[in-house]
Amino acid sequence: MSKKNRVIVSGENIEIVSDNSNAPSIETKENNSRRDFIKVAVAAGVGVCAVGTPICAGTRMVLAPGFQESQAGQFYPLTTINALTEKPQKFAIVDSKRDAWTTLPDQKIGSLFVRKVGSEVSAFHALCPHAGCMIQIGTKKNPKTGNEEEMFYCPCHAAHFRFDGTRLDGVSPRDLDSLEVKIENGNVFVKFENFTFGIAEKRT
Ligand code: FES
Repeated sequence: MSKKNRVIVSGENIEIVSDNSNAPSIETKENNSRRDFIKVAVAAGVGVCAVGTPICAGTRMVLAPGFQESQAGQFYPLTTINALTEKPQKFAIVDSKRDAWTTLPDQKIGSLFVRKVGSEVSAFHALCPHAGCMIQIGTKKNPKTGNEEEMFYCPCHAAHFRFDGTRLDGVSPRDLDSLEVKIENGNVFVKFENFTFGIAEKRT
């Protein structure tokens, strides 16, 4: 005997009736709706991820906005103002790192330099604005004067910067990226954020 199913739409109720006596004869609208929803949801998810990873990545960003926010734009305590010197000192920024599924505590998320001249404290991101290599401190020939002196330099493409962050030659499209500093009760806080490499404008 062949199995014959028919669908009856009656008002708001949908019934599936089968002439196979071994099969359930009636399913409620609630069961059908739940099953249909799952089928549609799975199909939609597979379809979206199949046609474009960027869409899935975008979804992740919407679901986990903290992933972006925790990486930038907040003040971190570094040291006391009395511990600072005219020669820049390097500090690591440690914070939790979060991806779509996990949060890893105590991860190094960046580095910066801080110095004090008189009572003025300044801070600079430790990544080169040209292409993001780690800035170093060392004795180099000043391309302006030809004198050997201590300065910031980038080992990747030989960019040089004064300790106040200004460029000494033209490889980098802009000066070192300064960071906002605040002093509270003798403690130094720096707002750490990342900027776009390779462009003249300083922007996040
Ligand atoms: S990355 Fe620093 S000069 Fe190119």
